[in-house]
Amino acid sequence: MEDREDGLFIAALHKPAALLPISRHRKNLLYLIENTPVTIVVAATGSGKTTQIPQYLEKAGWCSGGKMIGVTQPRRVAATSVAARVAEEMNCEIGEEVGYSIRFEDLTSAKTKIKFLTDGLLLREALVDPLLSRYSVIMVDEAHERSLSTDVLLGVLKKIIKKREDLRVIVSSATLQAEEFINFFSRDEKQAENKTPIAQAISLDGRIYPVDILYLEEPAEDYIEKAVKVVFDIHASEGPGDILLFLTGREEIENVVQQIASRALDLPSNAKMLQPLPLYAGLTTEQQMYIFDPAPENTRKVIVSTNIAEASVTIDGIVFVVDCGFVKLRAYNPQTGIDSLTVTAVSKAAATQRAGRAGRTKPGKCFRLYTESSFEAMEKTTTPEIQRSNLAPMILQLKALGIDNMVRFDFPVPPPAELVARALEILFSLGALNDYAKLTRPLGQRMAELSLEPMMAKVLLAAPSFDCLSEMLTIAAMVSLQGSVWVSHSGERKAAETTRRKFAAEEGDHLTLLNIYQTFITKGKKDAKWCRDNLLNYKSLTKAVSIRNQLRRYLERFGIDIEESLGKASMEPSKTNERIRRCLTTGYFVNAARMQPDGTFRTVNGMLTLHAHPSSLMFNRKADWVIFHEVMETANKTFIRDVSKIEKSWLLEYAPDFYQIN
Ligand code: CDP
Ligand code: MG
Repeated sequence: MEDREDGLFIAALHKPAALLPISRHRKNLLYLIENTPVTIVVAATGSGKTTQIPQYLEKAGWCSGGKMIGVTQPRRVAATSVAARVAEEMNCEIGEEVGYSIRFEDLTSAKTKIKFLTDGLLLREALVDPLLSRYSVIMVDEAHERSLSTDVLLGVLKKIIKKREDLRVIVSSATLQAEEFINFFSRDEKQAENKTPIAQAISLDGRIYPVDILYLEEPAEDYIEKAVKVVFDIHASEGPGDILLFLTGREEIENVVQQIASRALDLPSNAKMLQPLPLYAGLTTEQQMYIFDPAPENTRKVIVSTNIAEASVTIDGIVFVVDCGFVKLRAYNPQTGIDSLTVTAVSKAAATQRAGRAGRTKPGKCFRLYTESSFEAMEKTTTPEIQRSNLAPMILQLKALGIDNMVRFDFPVPPPAELVARALEILFSLGALNDYAKLTRPLGQRMAELSLEPMMAKVLLAAPSFDCLSEMLTIAAMVSLQGSVWVSHSGERKAAETTRRKFAAEEGDHLTLLNIYQTFITKGKKDAKWCRDNLLNYKSLTKAVSIRNQLRRYLERFGIDIEESLGKASMEPSKTNERIRRCLTTGYFVNAARMQPDGTFRTVNGMLTLHAHPSSLMFNRKADWVIFHEVMETANKTFIRDVSKIEKSWLLEYAPDFYQIN
């Protein structure tokens, strides 16, 4: 295909894969995988598990007969960035021999042999291919993270290997939890004398250089401020090496990147420069790739990241780690029924893992933005997600896979009964389950097949009866976007507000999103400049068009007619608006709240005070009852995003069972 010179040149850009610690274990690994149904691979982050094992398998012939090697990741960003890296190492375009598949984005082809995908998506594939017969090997990567989908996937794979002797499962983990996984796979196996065990572990010694840990003497009042200061202190007084700063989320990260960039302008012109780069889930694949480029000459890189960089993504050249000590985790409150992302102190295991990122290529330093006694007070490990999540999406999926009895299903750790009961109640109220907790047809079945959260899935499937399907497709696509539709602006607040107001709908954010999309389609679709002028994110909106098309295809497959309203002026816009908000209520009734005289919101049972997110139209506006798409928690406030006005009576009309007790 290409001449050899070229091939050699590309390969030489990387540290030769043969130098990675894993290469010494290649034969052992392949032998073990060949001879054991489940292989547990434990090795330090950066040792080559994710990028090398799939290539070893491919070369050893595991893709013959058109089979694939599937590698799952708990995070989309990891799936895309790792796929790009492996494609590069194998000298192919992404989507050819190496591809990835994440929700609403499939870059694979008939040629694909190694496929990176999120664990949630692989579960979804099991709906159409229950034995996952297209795969010869499935590697469940980052298993130590114990994400909800990982745990469920392990349970499903345990069932599948009983029916498919040819399938190989690899569970890879950065921390020593091999025992737990071995017990899980072999606990009900009667161990015959000379039978090979179901699961075996192999531990690869990845070398980690010593890392000096430094604590604060006094707790920091504001870890953001402290983080920026520490970055500049390191820059001024430490030797060469890039910095990795762990913060909790996109907003914090963007804020700190801007602060570092503007303070870096004051560095003396003869000094080394600082280049801050963000890393979080909403970035496009392209934007993520910058972080892997070496810094320009005379410049120190500062990667400002969420816990993505904790284990699933490895960036070369990091010598200093700054750890804020917090992480955003899913937290579900079964009393309020509200699922949120909450800023929580990290566990000791996570803090140790973060520190280890500084010692990959030479001795490093980790600056913890907390005191040693705070560290001592941390939990030992992070609680598995299955024990702190809204289980409705997962139970819906399992029901669709024919797994009806949650109590009998073999999870690595069972979910708490209270969370299961609550999820069943929600699914029942949404109409996805009947009185016998069986999936309803077609509604429940279709909700499981749609790649949307159950609440949004219900809304979309209810839309034809509210005569607003075309509009709801748009809204579903817009709220499914990872990043914001707005570009962050460094200019004047006021001017930005005025620009945004042009799209505002009195009734709330969902209708505002609809306005934005419709204007984009009619005016700005081929015009990135129109988007820039209106502070809209062209890439996000283009993505929304693609998501909408994909959702549309699902509905067409279900045999649902879609009459596009786009461009047609509605006879009575206010009637349409009401129908849309009623329809939203049929899915989002759990997420209902009422505005208080002081402008905050209170959940229906009065247990929780919520604030409209500054990005919401309902920020500083009057309303009575509202529903919202999601909740975000910070250290001291709980925000709601994508908020729309509704009538109280609609809650009783569309969710009588759910609200009868109140
Ligand atoms: O999965 P594990 O953490 O064991 O390691 P990996 O992700 O396979 O990475 C192996 C090595 O590849 C790392 O140590 C990096 O040197 C390199 N790598 C890279 O430079 N850029 C990437 N995008 C991914 C990996
Ligand atoms: Mg990895």
